[in-house]
Amino acid sequence: MKYLSKEEVIDRFKRYRFVKNQIFEMMGGWVLSFPEIEIKIQFGRQMYSDALHSDLLKQRLHYLGARTDNRQIAYPDKKFFAYLEDLWHNASPTVVKLYTVDVLLRSLIVDTIREQLDRTSVPEDKASEEILRRIVSDDYARISWANSAIMELDPGREILTDKLRETLKDNLAKSGGFMSSEDPGVPFKREFAYSKAPTRPKNWKIIENADEYTEKNNTYDNVEGKKRLLHDLVDGELCSIERLGKMLAEFPDFPWEMKMQLTKQAWDESRHAESQIRRLKELGGKVGDYPVNYWGWEVDVNRPDPLERLAISNMTFESEACKHMSSWIETARTTGDEESARLIEFILMDEVTHVQIGKRWVDELTKNDPEHLKRVLAYPETVLAESRPKGIKMEDLV
Ligand SMILES: [Fe+2]
Ligand SMILES: [Fe+2]
Repeated sequence: MKYLSKEEVIDRFKRYRFVKNQIFEMMGGWVLSFPEIEIKIQFGRQMYSDALHSDLLKQRLHYLGARTDNRQIAYPDKKFFAYLEDLWHNASPTVVKLYTVDVLLRSLIVDTIREQLDRTSVPEDKASEEILRRIVSDDYARISWANSAIMELDPGREILTDKLRETLKDNLAKSGGFMSSEDPGVPFKREFAYSKAPTRPKNWKIIENADEYTEKNNTYDNVEGKKRLLHDLVDGELCSIERLGKMLAEFPDFPWEMKMQLTKQAWDESRHAESQIRRLKELGGKVGDYPVNYWGWEVDVNRPDPLERLAISNMTFESEACKHMSSWIETARTTGDEESARLIEFILMDEVTHVQIGKRWVDELTKNDPEHLKRVLAYPETVLAESRPKGIKMEDLV
């Protein structure tokens, strides 16, 4: 048995980081395109988990002497890039996404890391060992979750037939994996068509013409109003996971710390959606019960400037949401609904940080360009003043 040298450990960590980043960016870009609510919520959580793994690897690389961004990632062969690009465009429907990324690609990572663990010398490289064990354990859990989700979505193996499984396995094998860089590739750009709305289950009613959006009478002092509000909140959380995922997929060159905060936010939103769905059920409702509209979505995710997206969603819609949540907590409490108050109190604390994330990165990324900052900050006002449909109130958008 030959133990790995420091340089070999560095090389491997750079490759694991590359593939982890690819996974969370690709998953992020996919969320808006499939209808299964539970899977969207899981993707929000996993994006952060993969980003955290990448962050742990990055920290260890720093300690091993790889201290600059370009020394903390390695690009594998062109063939592997071509494989990823093909997945990005063609892995469909949802079960194929789950199988290729969450089962096959993750199994390849786990196998590669386990082989490294056998060749890791401790105590001198104990710090690497601990990170690797954590990744393996999280990825095993994720693979097992994905296998159960696949069984539920495709119980008769009609989509993911044995033959298709073999082909997908073969494609990954033929790509040569991520451990070689004889002929390194370059990252490809993930393009998105103009989006009117994210994908929702077929039975959801989507109001296409936002001027018709007048039927709501949401208050937090009766059960019907609460169900409607919770339903809107759930849909808003899903939109947040989707818009953040899309942004991460489209802009892989954001500063690392920003990506960490955006993936953390995606995880927050997925927990929010889970607890709101639970409360909605307790009150006798379920997702899909009420109509939704996507005007707020359209003016956000299609903007070419990601900072304008942060200005409208994180800094404006989420900031408004904080105000509304504070008053809902009060109403819930005065009407004796401690459970709703308790739940929203937790969510509100996260939402405040989302407003801060938006502000921080808008400030940071425009610090040498005051004109840009002005444009970015003017965007929400312009949108709300000029193009908000008549039927939509500010509180309908949060
Ligand atoms: Fe949220
Ligand atoms: Fe949020």
